[in-house]
Amino acid sequence: MGAEAAVRFTVNGEAREVETDPDRTLLDVLREDLGLPGTKYGCGEGQCGACSVLVEGRRMNACRTAVSKVEGRSVVTIEGLAKGDELHPVQRAFLEENAYQCGFCTAGMIVAAVALLEANPAPSDDEIAAGMDRNLCRCCSYPKIVKAVRRAVELTGGGAR
Ligand code: FES
Ligand code: FES
Repeated sequence: MGAEAAVRFTVNGEAREVETDPDRTLLDVLREDLGLPGTKYGCGEGQCGACSVLVEGRRMNACRTAVSKVEGRSVVTIEGLAKGDELHPVQRAFLEENAYQCGFCTAGMIVAAVALLEANPAPSDDEIAAGMDRNLCRCCSYPKIVKAVRRAVELTGGGAR
């Protein structure tokens, strides 16, 4: 462990400051220090995408991101996607399509889909597969996940908000 330092960044629109070893992972800080357990620890090695978050709108694996790397940046987690009681369209789509079994991968899948639709509001099935290929589902719910992303495209009229 290195010396502690203050790291400041925005999480789900709120300015946060943590006093921590700057080499700790963003995932640990989100879950353990900031009370945001929605982002999951799967492999811890950048292989499964369960820990996906948005950093400046881009999907990143929080398990492989030192918290110091997000200093001054904007991080959005699964907890930050809904607006009050209104779910994000991608969240609605996953619910409508029952696109999960155990649900462990779901937060990461939803975050990855949000990033995908931000970059490409009307992806083809091949583009959905390519855009989601860093996220693994050990329950093999992939067909339903692809359906959910297609449904999210419909809900957003071809453009995620
Ligand atoms: S927990 Fe981060 S990629 Fe698997
Ligand atoms: S629903 Fe179980 S890991 Fe994807």
